[in-house]
Amino acid sequence: MRTVNSLKELRTILRGYRREGKTIGLVPTMGNLHEGHISLVRKACEAADVVVTSIFVNPMQFGASEDLDSYPRTLEEDQRQLEAAGNTLVFAPSVEEIYPNGLVQQTKVVVPEVSDGHCGASRPGHFEGVATVVTMLFNMVQPDIAVFGEKDFQQLAVIRKLVRDLMMPVEVIGAPTIREDDGLAKSSRNGYLSDAERIIAPAVYQALQECARKLDEGRTDFTALEQEANDALTAAGLRPDYFNIVNSLTLKPATPEDSELTILVAAFLGTTRLIDNQSIARS
Ligand code: PAJ
Repeated sequence: MRTVNSLKELRTILRGYRREGKTIGLVPTMGNLHEGHISLVRKACEAADVVVTSIFVNPMQFGASEDLDSYPRTLEEDQRQLEAAGNTLVFAPSVEEIYPNGLVQQTKVVVPEVSDGHCGASRPGHFEGVATVVTMLFNMVQPDIAVFGEKDFQQLAVIRKLVRDLMMPVEVIGAPTIREDDGLAKSSRNGYLSDAERIIAPAVYQALQECARKLDEGRTDFTALEQEANDALTAAGLRPDYFNIVNSLTLKPATPEDSELTILVAAFLGTTRLIDNQSIARS
Protein backbone atom coordinates (compact mmCIF):
# COMPACT_ATOMS: atom_id res chain seq x y z
CA MET A 1 0.00 0.00 0.00
CA ARG A 2 1.36 3.39 -0.96
CA THR A 3 0.94 6.74 0.78
CA VAL A 4 1.17 9.97 -1.22
CA ASN A 5 1.08 13.55 -0.01
CA SER A 6 0.99 15.47 -3.28
CA LEU A 7 -1.92 15.93 -5.66
CA LYS A 8 0.41 15.58 -8.64
CA GLU A 9 1.57 12.15 -7.51
CA LEU A 10 -1.98 11.08 -6.67
CA ARG A 11 -3.17 12.00 -10.17
CA THR A 12 -0.25 10.21 -11.86
CA ILE A 13 -0.94 6.96 -9.99
CA LEU A 14 -4.72 7.14 -10.54
CA ARG A 15 -4.25 7.81 -14.24
CA GLY A 16 -2.38 4.49 -14.43
CA TYR A 17 -5.20 2.59 -12.74
CA ARG A 18 -7.80 4.21 -14.96
CA ARG A 19 -5.82 3.29 -18.06
CA GLU A 20 -5.96 -0.34 -16.88
CA GLY A 21 -9.78 -0.02 -16.76
CA LYS A 22 -9.92 -0.23 -12.95
CA THR A 23 -12.77 1.39 -11.00
CA ILE A 24 -11.84 3.69 -8.13
CA GLY A 25 -13.42 3.94 -4.68
CA LEU A 26 -12.83 6.79 -2.22
CA VAL A 27 -13.17 6.82 1.58
CA PRO A 28 -12.66 10.36 2.93
CA THR A 29 -11.51 10.47 6.56
CA MET A 30 -9.76 12.72 9.07
CA GLY A 31 -7.62 9.81 10.30
CA ASN A 32 -7.28 8.34 13.80
CA LEU A 33 -9.01 5.36 12.28
CA HIS A 34 -11.18 2.87 14.15
CA GLU A 35 -13.43 -0.06 13.15
CA GLY A 36 -16.07 2.38 11.86
CA HIS A 37 -13.70 3.82 9.27
CA ILE A 38 -12.30 0.40 8.42
CA SER A 39 -15.81 -0.92 7.72
CA LEU A 40 -16.14 1.81 5.06
CA VAL A 41 -12.83 0.76 3.49
CA ARG A 42 -13.99 -2.87 3.36
CA LYS A 43 -17.25 -1.78 1.72
CA ALA A 44 -15.31 0.30 -0.81
CA CYS A 45 -13.07 -2.72 -1.58
CA GLU A 46 -16.21 -4.73 -2.43
CA ALA A 47 -17.52 -1.98 -4.75
CA ALA A 48 -14.34 -0.85 -6.56
CA ASP A 49 -11.07 -2.33 -7.87
CA VAL A 50 -8.84 0.31 -6.28
CA VAL A 51 -9.55 2.07 -2.96
CA VAL A 52 -8.15 5.46 -1.99
CA THR A 53 -8.51 6.52 1.65
CA SER A 54 -7.86 10.19 2.26
CA ILE A 55 -6.60 11.36 5.64
CA PHE A 56 -6.95 15.09 6.06
CA VAL A 57 -7.99 17.03 9.17
CA ASN A 58 -9.87 19.71 7.29
CA PRO A 59 -9.47 23.10 9.00
CA MET A 60 -12.39 24.59 7.05
CA GLN A 61 -14.97 22.45 8.86
CA PHE A 62 -13.78 23.32 12.40
CA GLY A 63 -15.16 26.31 14.30
CA ALA A 64 -12.77 28.76 15.99
CA SER A 65 -13.34 27.24 19.45
CA GLU A 66 -13.31 23.61 18.29
CA ASP A 67 -10.70 20.84 18.50
CA LEU A 68 -8.69 21.38 15.26
CA ASP A 69 -5.33 21.56 17.05
CA SER A 70 -5.97 18.71 19.47
CA TYR A 71 -7.64 16.41 16.89
CA PRO A 72 -5.65 13.12 17.10
CA ARG A 73 -3.16 12.52 14.27
CA THR A 74 -1.96 8.90 14.12
CA LEU A 75 -0.79 8.32 10.54
CA GLU A 76 1.43 5.26 11.13
CA GLU A 77 -1.20 3.33 13.05
CA ASP A 78 -3.81 4.37 10.43
CA GLN A 79 -1.58 3.03 7.64
CA ARG A 80 -1.23 -0.29 9.44
CA GLN A 81 -5.01 -0.71 9.74
CA LEU A 82 -5.63 0.37 6.14
CA GLU A 83 -3.07 -2.06 4.80
CA ALA A 84 -4.72 -4.92 6.74
CA ALA A 85 -8.15 -3.93 5.35
CA GLY A 86 -7.00 -4.13 1.73
CA ASN A 87 -6.81 -0.40 1.00
CA THR A 88 -4.76 0.45 -2.12
CA LEU A 89 -3.59 4.02 -1.68
CA VAL A 90 -3.53 6.59 1.16
CA PHE A 91 -3.78 10.26 0.26
CA ALA A 92 -2.50 12.29 3.21
CA PRO A 93 -1.99 15.86 1.99
CA SER A 94 -0.80 18.84 4.03
CA VAL A 95 -3.06 21.84 4.64
CA GLU A 96 -0.91 23.81 2.14
CA GLU A 97 -1.47 21.17 -0.54
CA ILE A 98 -5.25 21.46 -0.22
CA TYR A 99 -5.53 25.20 0.48
CA PRO A 100 -2.47 26.82 -1.20
CA ASN A 101 -4.12 30.23 -1.08
CA GLY A 102 -5.49 29.91 2.45
CA LEU A 103 -9.06 29.40 3.62
CA VAL A 104 -10.29 32.94 3.01
CA GLN A 105 -9.48 32.87 -0.73
CA GLN A 106 -10.96 29.41 -1.23
CA THR A 107 -14.13 28.95 -3.36
CA LYS A 108 -16.76 27.37 -1.11
CA VAL A 109 -19.65 24.97 -1.67
CA VAL A 110 -22.92 25.69 0.14
CA VAL A 111 -25.65 23.05 0.37
CA PRO A 112 -28.81 24.82 1.55
CA GLU A 113 -31.74 23.47 3.60
CA VAL A 114 -30.32 20.10 4.60
CA SER A 115 -27.28 21.83 6.18
CA ASP A 116 -29.41 24.22 8.19
CA GLY A 117 -30.64 22.56 11.40
CA HIS A 118 -29.14 20.13 13.91
CA CYS A 119 -25.30 20.08 13.66
CA GLY A 120 -25.48 22.86 11.05
CA ALA A 121 -27.22 25.13 13.57
CA SER A 122 -24.79 24.29 16.38
CA ARG A 123 -21.67 24.46 14.18
CA PRO A 124 -22.06 27.40 11.76
CA GLY A 125 -20.00 26.90 8.59
CA HIS A 126 -19.30 23.24 9.41
CA PHE A 127 -21.16 21.71 6.49
CA GLU A 128 -19.82 24.36 4.12
CA GLY A 129 -16.35 23.12 5.11
CA VAL A 130 -17.36 19.49 4.66
CA ALA A 131 -19.11 20.07 1.30
CA THR A 132 -16.14 22.08 0.00
CA VAL A 133 -13.46 19.56 0.94
CA VAL A 134 -15.53 16.60 -0.27
CA THR A 135 -16.07 18.37 -3.62
CA MET A 136 -12.32 18.94 -3.84
CA LEU A 137 -11.58 15.31 -2.94
CA PHE A 138 -14.04 14.14 -5.60
CA ASN A 139 -12.29 16.36 -8.15
CA MET A 140 -8.84 15.20 -7.05
CA VAL A 141 -9.60 11.46 -6.99
CA GLN A 142 -12.51 11.32 -9.49
CA PRO A 143 -13.87 8.17 -7.84
CA ASP A 144 -16.58 5.94 -9.29
CA ILE A 145 -17.94 5.33 -5.79
CA ALA A 146 -17.43 6.98 -2.39
CA VAL A 147 -18.38 5.53 0.99
CA PHE A 148 -19.61 7.56 3.98
CA GLY A 149 -20.90 6.47 7.40
CA GLU A 150 -24.50 6.78 8.54
CA LYS A 151 -23.02 7.70 11.93
CA ASP A 152 -22.86 11.26 10.52
CA PHE A 153 -26.40 11.17 9.19
CA GLN A 154 -26.73 14.85 8.33
CA GLN A 155 -23.29 14.86 6.66
CA LEU A 156 -24.36 11.94 4.46
CA ALA A 157 -27.58 13.80 3.54
CA VAL A 158 -25.54 16.92 2.66
CA ILE A 159 -23.19 14.90 0.43
CA ARG A 160 -26.03 13.07 -1.32
CA LYS A 161 -27.69 16.43 -2.13
CA LEU A 162 -24.39 17.97 -3.22
CA VAL A 163 -23.76 15.11 -5.66
CA ARG A 164 -27.32 15.27 -7.02
CA ASP A 165 -27.47 19.05 -7.35
CA LEU A 166 -24.05 19.40 -9.02
CA MET A 167 -24.50 16.29 -11.21
CA MET A 168 -21.30 14.73 -9.88
CA PRO A 169 -20.51 11.41 -11.57
CA VAL A 170 -19.98 9.49 -8.33
CA GLU A 171 -22.14 6.92 -6.55
CA VAL A 172 -22.47 7.69 -2.85
CA ILE A 173 -22.73 4.59 -0.65
CA GLY A 174 -23.86 4.81 3.00
CA ALA A 175 -22.52 2.35 5.58
CA PRO A 176 -24.06 1.41 8.96
CA THR A 177 -22.76 2.74 12.28
CA ILE A 178 -20.23 0.55 14.06
CA ARG A 179 -20.64 0.55 17.85
CA GLU A 180 -18.82 -0.52 21.00
CA ASP A 181 -20.35 -3.46 22.89
CA ASP A 182 -22.30 -1.09 25.13
CA GLY A 183 -23.85 0.74 22.15
CA LEU A 184 -21.60 3.81 22.06
CA ALA A 185 -20.97 4.74 18.41
CA LYS A 186 -17.26 4.45 17.62
CA SER A 187 -15.72 7.87 17.14
CA SER A 188 -12.25 9.40 17.11
CA ARG A 189 -13.58 11.84 19.73
CA ASN A 190 -14.37 9.02 22.21
CA GLY A 191 -10.66 9.13 23.02
CA TYR A 192 -11.23 12.49 24.72
CA LEU A 193 -13.51 10.88 27.35
CA SER A 194 -12.25 10.27 30.90
CA ASP A 195 -12.90 6.83 32.43
CA ALA A 196 -15.87 8.25 34.35
CA GLU A 197 -17.31 9.91 31.22
CA ARG A 198 -16.84 6.72 29.19
CA ILE A 199 -19.19 4.94 31.62
CA ILE A 200 -21.88 7.61 31.09
CA ALA A 201 -21.48 7.88 27.28
CA PRO A 202 -23.74 4.93 26.28
CA ALA A 203 -26.68 6.99 27.65
CA VAL A 204 -26.79 8.64 24.20
CA TYR A 205 -27.49 5.31 22.50
CA GLN A 206 -29.91 4.32 25.28
CA ALA A 207 -31.90 7.55 24.79
CA LEU A 208 -32.13 6.78 21.05
CA GLN A 209 -33.29 3.22 21.71
CA GLU A 210 -35.85 4.35 24.26
CA CYS A 211 -37.27 6.96 21.90
CA ALA A 212 -37.34 4.48 19.00
CA ARG A 213 -39.28 2.06 21.18
CA LYS A 214 -41.86 4.74 22.01
CA LEU A 215 -42.17 5.66 18.33
CA ASP A 216 -42.67 1.97 17.51
CA GLU A 217 -45.56 1.95 19.97
CA GLY A 218 -47.17 4.56 17.72
CA ARG A 219 -46.57 7.74 19.70
CA THR A 220 -46.67 10.90 17.60
CA ASP A 221 -46.24 13.54 20.33
CA PHE A 222 -42.74 14.27 19.03
CA THR A 223 -42.06 17.36 21.15
CA ALA A 224 -42.88 15.46 24.34
CA LEU A 225 -40.70 12.54 23.22
CA GLU A 226 -37.80 14.91 22.56
CA GLN A 227 -38.25 16.48 25.98
CA GLU A 228 -38.29 13.08 27.69
CA ALA A 229 -35.04 12.15 25.93
CA ASN A 230 -33.39 15.48 26.82
CA ASP A 231 -34.40 14.91 30.47
CA ALA A 232 -32.94 11.38 30.41
CA LEU A 233 -29.66 12.65 28.92
CA THR A 234 -29.43 15.42 31.51
CA ALA A 235 -30.18 12.97 34.34
CA ALA A 236 -27.35 10.73 33.07
CA GLY A 237 -24.89 13.63 33.31
CA LEU A 238 -24.82 14.83 29.69
CA ARG A 239 -25.63 18.27 28.32
CA PRO A 240 -27.95 17.77 25.32
CA ASP A 241 -27.20 19.99 22.32
CA TYR A 242 -30.24 18.76 20.39
CA PHE A 243 -32.49 15.71 20.25
CA ASN A 244 -34.65 15.93 17.13
CA ILE A 245 -37.12 13.53 15.54
CA VAL A 246 -37.09 14.27 11.80
CA ASN A 247 -38.26 13.11 8.39
CA SER A 248 -35.37 10.89 7.20
CA LEU A 249 -35.20 12.47 3.74
CA THR A 250 -35.74 16.17 4.43
CA LEU A 251 -34.36 16.28 8.01
CA LYS A 252 -37.31 18.59 8.80
CA PRO A 253 -39.36 18.04 12.00
CA ALA A 254 -41.32 14.79 11.81
CA THR A 255 -45.06 14.79 11.18
CA PRO A 256 -47.46 11.96 12.13
CA GLU A 257 -47.80 11.16 8.39
CA ASP A 258 -44.07 10.45 7.88
CA SER A 259 -43.19 6.78 7.40
CA GLU A 260 -39.39 7.12 7.50
CA LEU A 261 -38.20 8.81 10.68
CA THR A 262 -34.74 9.47 12.03
CA ILE A 263 -33.82 10.54 15.54
CA LEU A 264 -30.78 12.84 15.56
CA VAL A 265 -28.89 13.56 18.76
CA ALA A 266 -25.86 15.56 19.85
CA ALA A 267 -24.82 15.91 23.48
CA PHE A 268 -21.82 17.18 25.39
CA LEU A 269 -20.06 15.04 27.95
CA GLY A 270 -17.65 17.43 29.62
CA THR A 271 -16.13 19.20 26.60
CA THR A 272 -16.57 16.23 24.24
CA ARG A 273 -19.45 16.45 21.77
CA LEU A 274 -21.00 13.07 20.91
CA ILE A 275 -23.42 12.56 18.00
CA ASP A 276 -25.56 9.59 17.04
CA ASN A 277 -28.79 8.75 15.25
CA GLN A 278 -31.35 6.01 14.74
CA SER A 279 -33.72 5.51 11.80
CA ILE A 280 -37.13 3.84 12.05
CA ALA A 281 -39.70 2.86 9.44
CA ARG A 282 -43.36 3.17 10.46
CA SER A 283 -46.32 1.65 8.67
P1 PAJ B 1 -14.30 11.33 10.04
O1 PAJ B 1 -14.97 11.80 11.27
O2 PAJ B 1 -12.88 10.86 10.11
O3 PAJ B 1 -15.18 10.18 9.42
C1 PAJ B 1 -14.85 9.60 8.19
C2 PAJ B 1 -15.98 8.68 7.76
O4 PAJ B 1 -16.13 7.63 8.72
C3 PAJ B 1 -17.34 9.42 7.69
O5 PAJ B 1 -18.04 8.99 6.53
C4 PAJ B 1 -18.02 8.95 8.97
O6 PAJ B 1 -19.43 8.97 8.89
C5 PAJ B 1 -17.50 7.53 9.09
N1 PAJ B 1 -17.61 7.02 10.47
C6 PAJ B 1 -17.14 7.60 11.61
N2 PAJ B 1 -17.49 6.86 12.69
C7 PAJ B 1 -18.17 5.79 12.22
C8 PAJ B 1 -18.80 4.64 12.83
N3 PAJ B 1 -18.78 4.48 14.15
N4 PAJ B 1 -19.41 3.75 12.03
C9 PAJ B 1 -19.45 3.92 10.68
N5 PAJ B 1 -18.88 4.97 10.04
C10 PAJ B 1 -18.25 5.88 10.80
O7 PAJ B 1 -16.56 12.65 8.61
C11 PAJ B 1 -15.43 13.11 8.44
O8 PAJ B 1 -14.29 12.49 8.92
C12 PAJ B 1 -15.16 14.38 7.67
O9 PAJ B 1 -16.24 15.27 7.84
C13 PAJ B 1 -14.91 14.14 6.15
C14 PAJ B 1 -16.12 13.49 5.45
C15 PAJ B 1 -13.66 13.26 5.95
C16 PAJ B 1 -14.65 15.50 5.45
O10 PAJ B 1 -13.57 16.15 6.03
